[in-house]
Amino acid sequence: MSQKPMRLRRTQLAVPGVSEKMLIKAASSAADHVFCDLEDAVAPSSKARARDTIADALNNLDWGNKVRCVRVNDVGTEWCYEDIITIVEKAGKNVDTIMLPKPLNASDVQFADKLLSQMEMKLGLERKIGLEVLIEEVEAMQNVAEIANSCERLECMIFGMGDYAASQGLVMENIGLSEGYPGDIFHYPRYHMTIAARAAGLDAVDGPFVDFKNDTVYRVECRRALTLGMVGKWAIHPSQIEPALEVFSPSQEDVDFAREVIAVYEKAAAEGLGSVGHKGVMVDAASARLFQNTVNRADLIGM
Ligand code: COA
Ligand code: MG
Repeated sequence: MSQKPMRLRRTQLAVPGVSEKMLIKAASSAADHVFCDLEDAVAPSSKARARDTIADALNNLDWGNKVRCVRVNDVGTEWCYEDIITIVEKAGKNVDTIMLPKPLNASDVQFADKLLSQMEMKLGLERKIGLEVLIEEVEAMQNVAEIANSCERLECMIFGMGDYAASQGLVMENIGLSEGYPGDIFHYPRYHMTIAARAAGLDAVDGPFVDFKNDTVYRVECRRALTLGMVGKWAIHPSQIEPALEVFSPSQEDVDFAREVIAVYEKAAAEGLGSVGHKGVMVDAASARLFQNTVNRADLIGM
């Protein structure tokens, strides 16, 4: 498997593609990753206009080091091919990734992959455009391993709990809130998707939390996603950027401790020991591997 580009996705900010004002705000925000939306945040009658607005924003705004992503419409709609063609023809040099919603299986993702390959050849784009997919249909959850391995271009899988809840027929008061159910109603799909993503070398990201004034529950959701191996969560409003950055970045103390544990293990291994005690806790190869994840995250952030 060739090396995937390493990109920060602690927070993926959703921006309606029709709003010049929000696109300007997003470009100067602190988000790692912004996805300019052509799908649910854009009404059918505004799709064509939104493509042009997004292409202009990609070409003319200063996005800093952000990942510049465009969410297109799904392959079952009349808009998908034209979304990809228009965005890549007009702004291909300034697009890092395309986000594809609602794939049901590998061939849905391969449609976008092949279209992008043709366009990269024709337009002579030197940088390959990455793909991200939303896992948000029950069929996709069943086919999640096949989707994860659908093409080399794929970098990231996002759990889209809103559409997923509808697809499975979950009973909810609001997206993410299901008080009649003990525990986290999304535990299984989040966990299941994250396993498939990690096994294929992809980033797993958690989708939206719509109650954007509820910072407390948003942070709980971020920590839950982080704990089970996801690298970030969506922000649907600028107020969700800082909390996600905070939760998905290890603290300096955590990074120092992780580096210390790895050093303790390496010293022990060099002395011929497989496991040693460190601050009252056993350290062995598995501990070093676990803490290496923290170090990898820190390296990507530049800590
Ligand atoms: N990206 C960039 N800027 C945003 C933003 C976003 N997602 N959401 C809000 N803002 C801006 C507003 O334009 C406003 O700017 P101003 O202070 O310069 O006027 C400021 O942040 C504060 O916004 P606020 O008034 O609190 O919210 P709102 O009522 O304008 O918008 C939503 C609320 C939910 C409609 C809006 O946040 C939104 O459209 N979110 C994204 C929706 C989306 O993409 N959905 C699909 C994926 S789930
Ligand atoms: Mg959706």
